[in-house]
Amino acid sequence: MSTPTRPLALVTGGSSGIGFELAVQLADRGHDVAISGQSERVHDAAEKLRGHGVEAYPHQADAATYDGVESFWKAVADLGRPLNVACLNVGIGVGGRFLDTDLDDELRMIAINCAGTVHLAKRVVRAMHDQGPDRGDRRILVVSSVSATTPTPYEPAYGATKAFGFNFAESIREELREEGIVVTALLPGATDSEFHANAGMGNTRFGDNSWKNDRTEVARQGIEALFAGDDHVVGGDEATKQQVVDHRSMSEPEKAAKQGEAARPR
Ligand SMILES: NC(=O)c1ccc[n+]([C@@H]2O[C@H](COP(=O)([O-])OP(=O)(O)OC[C@H]3O[C@@H](n4cnc5c(N)ncnc54)[C@H](OP(=O)(O)O)[C@@H]3O)[C@@H](O)[C@H]2O)c1
Repeated sequence: MSTPTRPLALVTGGSSGIGFELAVQLADRGHDVAISGQSERVHDAAEKLRGHGVEAYPHQADAATYDGVESFWKAVADLGRPLNVACLNVGIGVGGRFLDTDLDDELRMIAINCAGTVHLAKRVVRAMHDQGPDRGDRRILVVSSVSATTPTPYEPAYGATKAFGFNFAESIREELREEGIVVTALLPGATDSEFHANAGMGNTRFGDNSWKNDRTEVARQGIEALFAGDDHVVGGDEATKQQVVDHRSMSEPEKAAKQGEAARPR
């Protein structure tokens, strides 16, 4: 069997939504792609990616557990190839009033969005360090959110996990700059995926996908920023980008009130 010569990328939560579109963008740039997901549909997603003329490696595991994260990493490492791009994308939300939401749901979200991101980043960063600069690009995309720039009432712990991811990405970016490893944060605005339905937010303004950003465009912006070496990019239309500009001059209570209006259950 001949050794693959294409660069290799991984995308967590690559079976649907923004993650799948990130994988498509990378495939269209000539990368083989390893994708993870929780359900069996990760295999169908891999088949679709093969339609873009690359190899795809699906891995089914629960990103909320240490073993699930580690098993995806092991599957990627077992390919025995340099890793050129890692998209740490998987993330879930928990909507609702903090008084009412279930603690186990919130702890699971923190496990996926925070602990799982740090866990996989540790494996990726060390592997990229060890493989050195001579075996192609070394780039890491951390998927955060516009929610990182505002308090998020009615999904209060979610916004905090996304602020964690943004801060973490900017921090390791600075550490890895001299190594030549690029780290970029993608901050999508509200995007058309299954995310808000899965977060139990169907009874809020976010329950309607029709007004949200297009996930293909959000992913395209993220991958472009990653390859341009930008520190972060807001994913979405002009109104979404303006929202983040506005957040810089608003007080935390002002932002909280505005955000709370949109996320409050009807
Ligand atoms: N959509 C938005 O409005 C929005 C806005 C800002 C930021 N983001 C961020 O963008 C990222 C992607 O969100 P999305 O909108 O694409 O969400 P999504 O449509 O709900 O997709 C979630 C993906 O993650 C996988 N996944 C979920 N739970 C998992 C688990 N426990 N173990 C392994 N895989 C799991 C799913 O796999 P299965 O297919 O197997 O279920 C799927 O591939 C998240 O980090 C989110 O915080 C989203």
